[in-house]
Amino acid sequence: MKKIILDCDPGHDDMMAIMLAASNPEIDLLGVTTVAGNQTGAKTFENARKILTLIGKKDLATGKEIPLARGADVPLFKPLTVAPQIHGSSGLDGAELPAPDVDALEIDAVDFIIKTLNESNEKITLVPTGPLTNIAMAFLKAPAIKNKVKEIVLMGGAVYDSNITPAAEFNIYVDPEAAKIVFDSGLPVTMIGLDVTNKSLMTFPVIEDMIGWNGPASKIVGPLMKFFAQANKDNFGIDGAPVHDALAVARVIDPSVVECEFLNVDIETASELTRGQTLADLYKVTGKEPNVDVALKVNVDRFLELLLGAIRTLDEKLK
Ligand code: BDR
Ligand code: CA
Repeated sequence: MKKIILDCDPGHDDMMAIMLAASNPEIDLLGVTTVAGNQTGAKTFENARKILTLIGKKDLATGKEIPLARGADVPLFKPLTVAPQIHGSSGLDGAELPAPDVDALEIDAVDFIIKTLNESNEKITLVPTGPLTNIAMAFLKAPAIKNKVKEIVLMGGAVYDSNITPAAEFNIYVDPEAAKIVFDSGLPVTMIGLDVTNKSLMTFPVIEDMIGWNGPASKIVGPLMKFFAQANKDNFGIDGAPVHDALAVARVIDPSVVECEFLNVDIETASELTRGQTLADLYKVTGKEPNVDVALKVNVDRFLELLLGAIRTLDEKLK
């Protein structure tokens, strides 16, 4: 089984990442940590509480309760940017989730990440699906924990695409200094960026079909995905819900779901115009050593098989 910590800012696609991680037999979800991004820190944390409540609070593969820790409310240096145009004013608009019945750990996300890595006798995979603030802070506070990190499989960045400015993807744009710390960490990093996630669509007919399952998970997830798909259609002309963050979890479950190229990737932190751009050296013009596995192709059928399988599993288990 693959041990992971999921650091997220829920967010519709973060919710799908949590659901996939919690229900897939390959994944031991050691904890969920939250960060400000799609919405304020208070809202993304509240959404995570509701999502964990909806799925019965446990990792299905291990039967263990999933610890939840709240993290950074602001990026390292920049003021926070949120994304209500995509995720609504709650950060998870489109359906009513159950009242939260999950409490945060007493320690915060950064200390939880440090403690979990320190106490583990196996290396752990970090899966960040929001701005990289918590992960960067953990590396700054306790650099030795890097020895316990197996790899970092993150959703963020893009080579040919963008969404928050003409140059940048949202997660990297929000906290570019944190992203630089993570990309330059020397650890194995896989970048699951918009080049692949904007193709990883749950289309409107697929969403309608899921709504028709009418199970305990699907009857809530369906309308949420419909809201998210419509927001993506209105803002970007994308014909469906790009389930960005869940693709990072899918990559951990089945590495063949994406194909990567090992490239040097640097993060723009100085320019306001191109802040948060992920500069991938496709043609090796910089002479810098490659540091990131960059996802450039995706097997969408395999991704949807995993994702829809997760919702079906939850429908069954929550009955
Ligand atoms: C990323 O930004 C957020 O809006 C999504 O949750 C995803 O992590 C896509 O750019
Ligand atoms: Ca996210």
